[in-house]
Amino acid sequence: MANMESLEELLQEELKDMYDAEKQLTKALPKLAKKATTPDLQDAFEEHLRQTEQHMERLEQVFDQLGMPVKGKTCKGMKNLIAEGNDMIADADDDATRDAIMIAAAQKVEHYEIAAYGTLRTWANVLGHREIASMLEDTLEEEKETDQKLTGIAEGFVNQAAAEDEEEEEPRKRTVGARASRRPAAADRNRTGRR
Ligand SMILES: [Fe+2]
Ligand SMILES: [Fe+2]
Repeated sequence: MANMESLEELLQEELKDMYDAEKQLTKALPKLAKKATTPDLQDAFEEHLRQTEQHMERLEQVFDQLGMPVKGKTCKGMKNLIAEGNDMIADADDDATRDAIMIAAAQKVEHYEIAAYGTLRTWANVLGHREIASMLEDTLEEEKETDQKLTGIAEGFVNQAAAEDEEEEEPRKRTVGARASRRPAAADRNRTGRR
């Protein structure tokens, strides 16, 4: 079991790792927002970019409290997650598939962050850094909310695909009702994104 001194060192190392991870995400998220064709997804990426910038600021405050310089250390985990996501996005044949892949890639990133911040929060608590633990908890909650929001958007996709399948089966009877019941954002995407 790690003693307190080595746990304090571990905490600092992992904080630097996450600072770099967040920095990588501030560069990746605008690209995802640009490529997204579903308006809800575009909004989600843009909102999370703003949160990610805040996550960096929070970490800067944590560094300050611990008397550390504001400096990251390359996060290989995030680098590889982003690289894998980019490869998959490049292989997408159409807009809907690309959106689905971007949601999947973004959720992998969120889960990585949730694991990392959960650990950091626990270590900070064990070491008696209560204020730091509470800042890390705030970030952790935002990562979880983002993950849930992405799940909701992915579910909307599946429902829409099902509605489209029904339309194809019974075009005359279903078209009007199905379109009217669809949410505006999804209908927009349907018109602009699928041709
Ligand atoms: Fe974050
Ligand atoms: Fe995140």
